[in-house]
Amino acid sequence: MPTNTPDPAAAGLSSGPGSVFNPAQAVPWRTYGALLGAKDTFAADREAAAEMCRTLHGVPVKEVTRENAAALIRAVHLLAGQGHTQFADLGGGRPMNRLNDDNLPDLATVAEAEQPARQWLLLDSDVSAVTAGRALLGGEGVAVVQQDLRHLPGVMAALHGHLDMSRPVVVILGAVLHFLTMPEAQLLLDALWAELASGSVVVVTHLTGEGADPDTVQAGAKAYRTLHGIDIYPRTRQEITGLAARFDLRPPGVVQTIEYEPPDAGPAPVPGPHFLMWVAERS
Ligand SMILES: C[S@@+](CC[C@H](N)C(=O)[O-])C[C@H]1O[C@@H](n2cnc3c(N)ncnc32)[C@H](O)[C@@H]1O
Repeated sequence: MPTNTPDPAAAGLSSGPGSVFNPAQAVPWRTYGALLGAKDTFAADREAAAEMCRTLHGVPVKEVTRENAAALIRAVHLLAGQGHTQFADLGGGRPMNRLNDDNLPDLATVAEAEQPARQWLLLDSDVSAVTAGRALLGGEGVAVVQQDLRHLPGVMAALHGHLDMSRPVVVILGAVLHFLTMPEAQLLLDALWAELASGSVVVVTHLTGEGADPDTVQAGAKAYRTLHGIDIYPRTRQEITGLAARFDLRPPGVVQTIEYEPPDAGPAPVPGPHFLMWVAERS
């Protein structure tokens, strides 16, 4: 089992998004929350969300964001229903907890409804997400850890410290791999592949520019960097598919989030440039 070195700076890495609390600086989970109508955001986050909608004119940013959250809920519901009891939500952000316009529940509660004894690990670099996570989730079977996903020994130590890694784990990487460079994302997935037991499942949603005007996508990434002070990497379908290479893709393969287990009730999905999604198994 790898040892935990809790300080990414000691490993030569910059600290991850939101690692120091600063309400004047927009951070990914709060901008994401502002797009979903969350009430616990700051002016900088709401301004960043509004500016992203302006820059990505023609792209239904709020609907695409909501659809990312809804697809993750469907995936967790399905996997818990199939008998999975251990979950690691890496880059999980602040639990939804119905604190949004669409009354979306948090993933830990969705899993708990199917598996009351489920074990849940929420890991994020952002101190405000982690603090809210501890307050909102708490209770039996939940661990919340502040860690940078690029600090692999720390991530692996959190997994081993809170889950039984000799048994299958569902790893959720929702809307987070696009904050890592391709080598960083690949290293994380390689490390997960090496550490996870057979039967484990990885769920990924990832920003893509597919289907959108390239100039608009470029302008969006540039605006995101300016507003948040961090890089964001929308990727092609081929690149996002490549991240699953060591795992066995489950049907329906690499799809837009709106195509994953489409709900038979509720608002009609809005097509457009999107998050792509895959669910894959560690054989
Ligand atoms: C857009 S939010 C998505 C939240 C949640 N996974 C979802 O899909 O609803 C991205 C999250 O990834 C986290 N994040 C980004 N880069 C990270 C890193 N290097 N290490 C850990 N967390 C990171 C952010 O702090 C944020 O909470």
